[in-house]
Amino acid sequence: MRQQWFGEARFGLFVHFGLYSGAARHEWVQNYERLGAEEYQAYFDHFDPDLFDARALARRAKDTSMGYVVLTTKHHEGFCLWESALTDYTSVEACGRDLVREYVDALREEGLRVGLYYSLIDWHHPDFTVDGNHPRRGDDAERERNAHRDMDRYREYLHGQVRELLTGYGEIDYLFFDFTYPEEQGGWAGKGPEDWGAEELLALCRELQPGMLVNDRLGIPGDLVTPEQYQPTAPIVKDGVPQVWEACQTINGSWGYHRDNHDQKSADLLVRMLADSVSMDGNMLLNVGPDGRGALAPRDETVLAEIGEWMRRHRRAIVGAGHAPFVPPREGVYTRRGARLYLHLFTWPLGFVHLPGLAGEATYARFLHDGSWLRMSVTDPEQQADYLTPAGEAPGTLTVHLPVRRPDVLLPVIELTLRS
Ligand code: GLC
Repeated sequence: MRQQWFGEARFGLFVHFGLYSGAARHEWVQNYERLGAEEYQAYFDHFDPDLFDARALARRAKDTSMGYVVLTTKHHEGFCLWESALTDYTSVEACGRDLVREYVDALREEGLRVGLYYSLIDWHHPDFTVDGNHPRRGDDAERERNAHRDMDRYREYLHGQVRELLTGYGEIDYLFFDFTYPEEQGGWAGKGPEDWGAEELLALCRELQPGMLVNDRLGIPGDLVTPEQYQPTAPIVKDGVPQVWEACQTINGSWGYHRDNHDQKSADLLVRMLADSVSMDGNMLLNVGPDGRGALAPRDETVLAEIGEWMRRHRRAIVGAGHAPFVPPREGVYTRRGARLYLHLFTWPLGFVHLPGLAGEATYARFLHDGSWLRMSVTDPEQQADYLTPAGEAPGTLTVHLPVRRPDVLLPVIELTLRS
């Protein structure tokens, strides 16, 4: 099962890095501001990632208890972070470094799984036709010019580049393609799986890296489903079949470094999102956008360090854990790992938390962060409810007694041992 390590890991780091990192105003800046090739060239000419430190990045991921990392080898702008023989629009030309090589080596050293992101879209390639997502969509003359662009040639380039990535860097664990948009937009045709030669491309992936996971953004089904900046509300099931899924999430709404965007999510929100994903059998791929010099912004370092500290004490409620077949109380969500059930308390109740259906199922309760024992009780349904003890709960409800003060951790977790 190529998904097995992935379902275990639950938590990964997404890294968006490219020329847009120097522009520092969203990775879609070329599109948003409709920048021409000459204007964008300035970011290539000044590309200088002197602080891009793949080892530090890998260590940071490891310290945050993440099991894998996914790096943008090429984003929509077309700039390649590896030594491609098919273009000179690469980091090797710009600064003399194969950043994919540095990254892959650093991950392996830390024992992390290797993920590569590759954009199907390419705003730099001369044969890539202008469409509704393209920076040149405002220019009607591009409609005529499209007639001279040859998507067959682009497809060949695309397959050639994927072949380079899958043959030159050892074993790759995960390939994140991005993305397909068959719908027409503003009078421009979209691009669908045929434009990418999706079936052949997937076959190429299977041939070159049989154990590698491929996501679902080629426009044909892959090995997993990838909701973006969005949390589902239940495990994802398609035609009755449970899906492997991963929600990719940003810290501030932008994937690429965006200096003036301060829409920063707090560490406690991010930890809740992570627990929420795992409770629905999903993964979370949390993004960072290193800055123009390749360094992580201090605000992102801080958030990751806080999450890492929480993970240090709560790792087993996340890594190797998944959905539990019990209805959670209104205060939070459950995850389960073998015979341990974890209650992640999103809100802090007064004195007690009541767990429907768990009477007789759980034999021991404690806080996970400090291992401190928690009293459990079951209300006798025969007895008249009185107003001083847990009352009015349905038969079969287990009550866990809690201190008045919420423990000082990002997200308190109760570990329950299940009767074996
Ligand atoms: C979207 C965006 C892109 C980002 C990706 C991450 O497809 O176009 O900028 O890299 O999502 O999932």
